[in-house]
Amino acid sequence: MEPLLRVQDLKVYFRILKGTVHAVDNVSFDLDRGQTMGLVGESGCGKTTAAFAITRLLPPNGRVVGGQIGFDGQIIVRADLPTEVDEVLRRPDWFTQLQPILRREEAEFAAFQAGGGQVLEAQEQMEDEFAFYTEITGLLAGRGSVPDDEILENLQKVTTQHLRGLGAGRRRRRREREIEQRIAAIRWSKVSMIFQSAMNAFNPVYRVGDQIMEALLTHYPDMTKEEARQRVLELFDLVGIDRSRVDGYPHEFSGGMRQRSMIAMALACNPQLLIADEPTTALDVIMQDRILAEIRDLQRELNIAMMIITHDISVVAEVGEKIGVMYAGKIFEYGSIGEIFEKPANPYTIGLLSAFPSIKGPRRRLRSIPGSPPDLSNPPSGCRFHPRCQFAQEVCKYVEPPMVQVAPDHWSLCHFAKEIYEGTLKGS
Ligand SMILES: Nc1ncnc2c1ncn2[C@@H]1O[C@H](COP(=O)(O)OP(=O)(O)O)[C@@H](O)[C@H]1O
Ligand SMILES: [Mg+2]
Repeated sequence: MEPLLRVQDLKVYFRILKGTVHAVDNVSFDLDRGQTMGLVGESGCGKTTAAFAITRLLPPNGRVVGGQIGFDGQIIVRADLPTEVDEVLRRPDWFTQLQPILRREEAEFAAFQAGGGQVLEAQEQMEDEFAFYTEITGLLAGRGSVPDDEILENLQKVTTQHLRGLGAGRRRRRREREIEQRIAAIRWSKVSMIFQSAMNAFNPVYRVGDQIMEALLTHYPDMTKEEARQRVLELFDLVGIDRSRVDGYPHEFSGGMRQRSMIAMALACNPQLLIADEPTTALDVIMQDRILAEIRDLQRELNIAMMIITHDISVVAEVGEKIGVMYAGKIFEYGSIGEIFEKPANPYTIGLLSAFPSIKGPRRRLRSIPGSPPDLSNPPSGCRFHPRCQFAQEVCKYVEPPMVQVAPDHWSLCHFAKEIYEGTLKGS
C-alpha cells in the first residue's frame, strides 16, 4: 500500500547573500499511516527545513529545488526549480559575466531582508530571481554539448529579459499562489506541526482557548462557536490541562502547559500526520518525559502518523518505530529503531549514540562527536561527515558515499556501511 507520506530526493536550498545553503540535499523517506518516525541529528542539519518543506512553511528565501513529496497518494510538493541553483555560483567564469545582475539582486535581497516596505513585492522579486537562476542553470548545463558562444548569447538574452521584468509572469504567479494557499489550507488540517519554539507560538494578547477556537472555525466553516468551544474543552481534557484554564492568556500558562496547548492546537483539526519539532527541548527533564509519554499515548489512541524531530537520539528510542539520522542536509542512516540501536551501520549514528546516555542500559561515559556540523553553504567534499569521522579513509574525502542497504529495513550512507555493520572495520 502507498505510504501516507513519501519524501523523495528532496532538496531544499536557501538563498543567502554569500551563496546558497544546501539545507536539505536528496532526502528520502516514507511514513505509513499511524507510524512514528524520529528524525534526529545535531542542530543545523536540516531537520526543521525538511519539516517546513512538508508543511509548505518555508521562508521566502527557501525553495524546494529538487524531488517531491507525496501525501495520501497525492503529490503535495514538487520542485519549483528543475535544476540546481548553486551550479551558477560554482562557475567563476560565468559568474563574472553575470556580475552586474548579481549585484543588483544582492541589493534587492538586502532590502528584502531588512523587511521594510513592500514585502509581497519583494517576495515576487525573489521568485523572479529564482526563475531567472533556473534558466541560467539550464543554459549552463548545456556546456560541453552546446558551443560556449551560443550559451553566452542565450545568457545575454535571458538576462535582458529578466532585467525588463516580466509583469505578466508576475500576475500569473500571483494567481498561482492564491490557488496554492487554498490548497495549503486544506492540507494544513491533514498535516499538523508542533513548532520548535512553542513558547512563542501563541499570540500573547489573546486567550489560549480562543486561539484554538479560531483555528477550528477557520478549518470547519460550518462549525458553530459553541461547538468549537466544546471541542476546545475536549482537547484540553485530551492533553491534560484543566478546563478552567480555557480563558487564560499564554503568559499565565507554565512552559509545560503552553506545550500541551500547542499539542491541543495541532490535534484540533484531526490531522493524519503530526510533525513535532523538538517538542520537549525547552522543558525540564521531568516535564520532557511526561509530555513525551503523553504524545505517544495520544498518537496511539488517535492512530495518527507522527514525525518527531529531535537532536537527542534517546528521545527517539522512547517514541519511535523508525528513525532517520540526518547530518549536513542528508539522511545518513535510516530504518527500524530496533535494528539501528542494536547494530548502527554509520559512524555518525555511532557518534550520536555514544553522546547520549542510554536509557535502559548501564551508565557509560559520554563522548560527544568532536567538531561541529559544517557550513551548509560550503559543505565538505566527498562524504560530508569525513572531517569528523573516526573511520574516515582517503576515499571519503573525495567520493560521495552511496546509500547501502545492510539489512531488510536498514540503510546507511557510508563507504564502509557493510564493514561497520558486520563489525569487520577497524576504527581509530
Ligand atoms: N531562512 C534561512 N535562510 C538561510 N539559511 C537558513 C534558513 N533557515 C535555516 N537555514 C540554514 O539551513 C540549515 C538547516 O537548518 P535547520 O533546518 O533549522 O536545521 P535543524 O532543524 O536540523 O537544526 C542551517 O545551516 C541553517 O543555518
Ligand atoms: Mg530545528
